[in-house]
Amino acid sequence: MLSHPRVYNFGWTSSGIIVPAVLSNSVCRLVVLISGRGSNMQSIVNTVRDHSLPAEICAVIANKTEAGGLQWARDRGLATHAVAHRDYATRVEFDTALAAVIDDYQPDYVLLAGFMRVLTPGFVEHFNGRLINIHPSLLPAFPGLHTHQQALAMGVQWHGCTVHFVTPVLDHGPIIAQGIVPVISDDTPETLAGRVLQVEHKLYANVVRWLAEGLVSLNSMQRVQVLGIASRSFVLTPNGVQPYQR
Ligand code: GRF
Repeated sequence: MLSHPRVYNFGWTSSGIIVPAVLSNSVCRLVVLISGRGSNMQSIVNTVRDHSLPAEICAVIANKTEAGGLQWARDRGLATHAVAHRDYATRVEFDTALAAVIDDYQPDYVLLAGFMRVLTPGFVEHFNGRLINIHPSLLPAFPGLHTHQQALAMGVQWHGCTVHFVTPVLDHGPIIAQGIVPVISDDTPETLAGRVLQVEHKLYANVVRWLAEGLVSLNSMQRVQVLGIASRSFVLTPNGVQPYQR
């Protein structure tokens, strides 16, 4: 079932975002979770504002009081919260407190953007079908941490990132979109991470647009469908991040 059903035509902006011209009547409520600098969160906020998406960033929440992205969000007038995981004895206690703060905003989607906590099954179940994550690898390859080191160690020639719905299995769940970058012979984990991050920002920006426009649905086979979007794959080219064109 599509959330926010609407009528669509499609175009393409100079900044690389697929844009449907829509008739819309509701606003998609978003809460973004971060743990650090929040560059993906910033890309999401800027995309919503620069393209006047029918979406609202209700709050930015971090599990660390020192997360750099919180001040960036505050400086732009966004509601922010720090629910410090160190203040809780167990994961369940932390997740319960975090869920309570999120629920106050009644979001349509909760976006994990560089949020580095493994969430409990209870939390994932509570936000089932509304919880989305970005992972810096081409899932199902290289789940977990140190994905760029893993990629270099395996000698893969293409690497990338994935935006997916979250399930209780870590870095698993229905894939919404993926982006790829070439691996260069003298790459280090840092240079590879920098290249992947470029694609992450565009990938998450496009997914947020699709969510805001109510285009995204999960079918009975737990496969993602995005109305009117044939290709959900993006490529880093010398001309920037481009959607794959048939
Ligand atoms: C990103 O590479 C993200 O995929 C990973 O952590 C990094 C966080 O970056 N989970 P930022 O905080 O969004 O800048």
